[in-house]
This record gives sequence, structure tokens and C-alpha cells, in this order.
Amino acid sequence: MSLKEILAQASSEKWAVPHFNFSNLEILKAVVEAARETKSPVLVGTSEGERNFVGLPEAVSMVKAFRESSGLPIFLNADHTKSVEAAKQAMDAGYDSVHIDLSALSFEENVRGTTEVVKYARDKSSEISAEGELGYLRGESKIEKKKIEIRPEDYTDPEEAADFVKKTGVDRLAIAVGNVHGITLDEPKLDVERIKKIRAVVSPEVALVLHAGSGIPDEDIKTAISAGISNIHISTELRAEFREELEKSLHKKGEAEYAPYKILEPVVEAIKQKAVEKIELFSSANRM
Ligand code: G3H
Ligand code: ZN
Repeated sequence: MSLKEILAQASSEKWAVPHFNFSNLEILKAVVEAARETKSPVLVGTSEGERNFVGLPEAVSMVKAFRESSGLPIFLNADHTKSVEAAKQAMDAGYDSVHIDLSALSFEENVRGTTEVVKYARDKSSEISAEGELGYLRGESKIEKKKIEIRPEDYTDPEEAADFVKKTGVDRLAIAVGNVHGITLDEPKLDVERIKKIRAVVSPEVALVLHAGSGIPDEDIKTAISAGISNIHISTELRAEFREELEKSLHKKGEAEYAPYKILEPVVEAIKQKAVEKIELFSSANRM
């Protein structure tokens, strides 16, 4: 099944396709093991920082190898791509999906750049799924001991969203509805009524994407899915597992241990468990 077909199935059956960010083999391996154990489709993604570290062809090859060995629908997304050029590079390298994020620009500039990326994707392959973003998402994928203020103008306007989708032809739309990247001192408060309004006016063929899934309470995630979200991004919670478990493992194994695969084994296991937890929460298990 293609990513577009899986997203359509998720929308109609009211569950969400998980999107997990990765920047090394261990996180990717853990996510694939979680997908294998739960029989879930997954999107794995690299932000610009992550892809610069991993390498574009390397990310494509690793995902292809895992897709073939697992037999699962695993797709690679160029996440939060901030320029048309970088989006084209990812598609040229063989990414299955692209997220063009021009949300910091004016509505017109966002429409112009996103339309160019969608056209490039269509000319390349009907299989590539293209995501645009409207509204402004604050924060970074890390744990921060501070509050982040969301301004009223940050939120996605439903009418503008409908117009944006018509003009650009995107397959997925990332929206700002009270979500903030990373985990901060305040618990995110999702504007569920706004999700419903956006869902009601945006073409049903377009998947609504909730970024910044880390730190959102489980009940709110479930409510967001019933309101029309069919794709959810998680990064910080996996990064936290990586860092915390690595520190624990180094401490536990002691100075005599030099084999990276022995040090990293419990790290991969902890990330896998976190990914399984999210897959179950999003109800994407046993869909394939
Ligand atoms: O695109 C990446 C995500 O939106 C991850 O957000 O770090 O808050 O989970 P998060
Ligand atoms: Zn994001």
C-alpha cells in the first residue's frame, strides 16, 4: 500500500499514522522493531539537522533496507524542510514524502513555495506524499524548563487552511492548534474545536497532521484523533529515551565495556518500548 492509501485508511477509520524522527541507526532500528512487533505502518523522518548528520542517500538506503527486511510499509519523510531547494534535494535522493515548512513566511509566499514543491513531487512520482504547513509552531525538540507562549496569530485559521489546501494541492496539512515542539513547563492545551473546524472545511482527501506530539496527554491525543488528526509526529520523547538510557547504560556497564552494540542494546530497547506505547495510543497497531 502507498502512504497516501494508508493515510486515507487512517482518516476513515479514525486512527493516526505515527511519524518518528531519527538521526541515527539505533533510533531507526528501535522504531522499525516497534513497527514489526505491533504490525503498524510508520513514517520515519529527518529534519534538516537530522538529515545533515545522517546523509540523504544514507537515510534513503537504511529505510529501504529496513522496509525490505521487515516487509512493512515504512516511509521516509523530509521533515520541516525550510526551503524549496532542500525539498527537491530530498525527493531527488529518493525520499517517499516531503514536508515543506514555509510557515514562517507570509501566506502568499508559503502558497507559492509549497505549490512549487507539490508540482515537483507530482512530476517525479505519483507516490510521493507532500505536506504543507500553515500556522506557526513554536519550540524545539528538547526538554526545556521554561514556558512558551503561543500567540493568537500562531493558530491555523480554518478558512485560510481550506484556501491553502486548494491553492497548493498538498496531500497533508500540518496545523497549529496549541501544540508546541518539545516538552516545556506547561502542558500543551489542544484547541480541539479548531481541529474539528479545520477538518470540516478542508478537503477530506487531505490528511491533517499534528506535529509536536511529545508531552501531549494521552487523552488529548485520542480526542485529537477523533476530531480528525490522522498523522502524529513524535521526536522529543524518543530523544529523551536515547539520552537517558545511554547515560544509565554507560554507568551500569562501567569503564570496562567498549563494545558499542552492548552499550546501545538497552538504549534501543527503551526507544522501542516508547515507540510501541505511541503506536498503541494512536491505534495504528495491527492495521497491516
Ligand atoms: O516534526 C517533528 C515533530 O513535530 C516532533 O515534535 O519533539 O514535540 O515530539 P516533538
Ligand atoms: Zn514538527
